[in-house]
Order: sequence, then structure tokens, then C-alpha cells
Amino acid sequence: MDPLRDALLWASGNAFLAGHLPRYRFVRATVARFMPGESTEEALDAGATLGGEGIATTFTRLGENVEEPSHAARTAGEYLRMLDRIEEMGLDAEVSVKLTQFGLDLDPDVTATHVRRLVDRSAELDRTLWIDMESSPYVDRTLDLYEVLQKDSPMVGICLQAYLRRTFDDLQRLLPLQPSVRLVKGAYREPAAAAFRDRRLIDESYVRLAGHLVSGGARRLVLGTHDTGLIAKVERELHGHDGFEVAMLFGIRSDEQRRLASAGYQVRTLISYGPSWYPWFMRRIAEKPAANIGLALRNLF
Ligand code: FDA
Repeated sequence: MDPLRDALLWASGNAFLAGHLPRYRFVRATVARFMPGESTEEALDAGATLGGEGIATTFTRLGENVEEPSHAARTAGEYLRMLDRIEEMGLDAEVSVKLTQFGLDLDPDVTATHVRRLVDRSAELDRTLWIDMESSPYVDRTLDLYEVLQKDSPMVGICLQAYLRRTFDDLQRLLPLQPSVRLVKGAYREPAAAAFRDRRLIDESYVRLAGHLVSGGARRLVLGTHDTGLIAKVERELHGHDGFEVAMLFGIRSDEQRRLASAGYQVRTLISYGPSWYPWFMRRIAEKPAANIGLALRNLF
């Protein structure tokens, strides 16, 4: 792994830095590249603008690894309000959540109760509720809960990470359920025993998983990547772009998002919002360290 990327991913989990870095104005200026604002309404407005360009949205409220049950309950309430606002505004939008936002570290049963409420409300509004995939110690618990939820409602989707060596086996387990899957490369600092590090191997895994998802009858396949070369490879493998959707993050390769949408691809932008952006922001910096650190330095000076 690139040592700079490794250092940034380490910093993403450091409590001292999490408490201090977000106070600096140049850091806040840099985060603005990746999110339209901290508030729900700023996120919704950005979603409405994208909607005007034929691009759908996924909203995610930032925050992970909550330490207080009351915070988990508050997050669930905020997502319920977000779903109502999406409906009121008539947006083509969905919501994606992290299980550790709902206290997976504290009590898996309470987490399941919160997420089930969100899946049920989302399904009432005919929208899929997505579950992000976090670092490898959470994968088993995430898959277990997904399996239970998916058996009761098809309106729940899960993110799978192509860099994990285990993902192909996990997919065999999920395919009989006709899952909705967002396929990504993977964003966390993982040991070599758990994850491929070579970009070529990650790409090969990605294309192979996408092929299996389509031939295995997945309900939806969303390619969560900004790597347009990789999207083209999947498209060649699947003989066209009808079998998948594309999702990218707000502020990253926006020109490509518009180009794909106008070429007839189904495109979705994931918009993150909320005040707890530090670890997520550091993972974004780590994805393209030189360019993003350059941007931060320009904001500093
Ligand atoms: P790659 O990193 O090769 O990027 C391709 C090109 O895109 C780069 O060359 C650069 O031009 C541009 N780019 C990508 N990231 C950039 C950045 N941060 N800043 C500037 N330019 C950038 N991960 C995870 O572990 N669990 C999850 O639940 C999710 N969910 C998710 C949803 C969606 C919609 C997306 C797009 C991504 C995720 N991810 C994720 C993150 C994912 O695992 C991965 O880390 C990033 O998408 C970066 O990898 P790419 O596939 O874009 O390729």
C-alpha cells in the first residue's frame, strides 16, 4: 500500500486528530469540495439541482461508531425525517446508512431495530435503503443483518467491497436472496491477509464480482466507482450498460457523472452531510492523496 495513503487512513481513525483537525479553517474549506454543506437542507438542495440534470441521489448522514445509545436513536430519527423530506420534495433519492451509526458496537439488537424501521419506512415510500460496508471486523455482522432484513423486504441493498479476499464467497451466500448490491473497491485500512492491495487484482475482483452479480440474478447492481475505465470493463463483460447503475460521490468527477447521465446511463450521486465528517473526509483524502493534499495546502495558504 502507498505509505501516504496508509498514514492518512491511520489518521482517519485517530481520536486526537478527529478532535482537532476539523477546527482549522483550511480543513473545513477542503471538506467543502466533497459535501454541499453540513445541513439536511443543503444536501437536499444539491440533490434537487442534480435531479434537474437527470442524476438521482443517495443521501448519507455522516457519523460512525457512536458510543451513546441516545446518539443512535437520534440518528435514526434524523434519517426518518430525511426520508419524509425526500418524499415531500419528490426527489429521485435513496438513503444509505452505516450500521455503526446505530450502535453496532454497543448492541446489535438495538441496531437491527433502528435499521428495520428505516427499511420499512423507505419501502413504504418505494425506495431502497442501502447499508454501507465498513471495515473488515464489521463484515460478518453487516451480512448477517442484511440477510435477515432482505428476507423480509427486497427494498434493502448492501455495499460489497472488491478488495476483500472474502467477498466472492460472501456473494455466493447472498446471491440466492437476489440482493441489491453496490459494488465498490473498498476504502479502509485493511491487512494484506484480508484485502488485495494490488490495484490490478482489485480491478479483476471487481469485474468478476459484477459478472457474477448479473449472471446470478441480483435485483440491482450499482457500480460505486469513479473509475470510468473499470466501468467500461464491466460494460464489456456484461455486453452493455442496461444491467447496472453507476454511483459516484458528490464533487468527484462531476463532469463524468453528467457525461454518463446524458449518454443514457443511470447515474446516482452520493451526497454526504452532517457535522461528523472527519473520518469519512480523511478516507476521501486518502483515495487521491497528492491532489487532495495539494488542495488542502492551497486552502491553507
Ligand atoms: P480510484 O480510487 O481508482 O479512482 C478513480 C479516479 O477517480 C481517480 O483517479 C480520481 O481521478 C478520482 N477519484 C476517486 N476518489 C477520489 C477522491 N477521493 N478525490 C479526488 N478524486 C478521486 N467504500 C467502502 O468501503 N464502503 C462503502 O460503503 C462505500 N460506499 C461508496 C459509495 C459510492 C457511491 C462510492 C462512489 C464509493 C463508495 N465507497 C465505499 C468508496 C470506495 O470504496 C472507494 O474508496 C472510492 O470510490 C475510490 O475508488 P474508485 O473506485 O473511485 O477508484
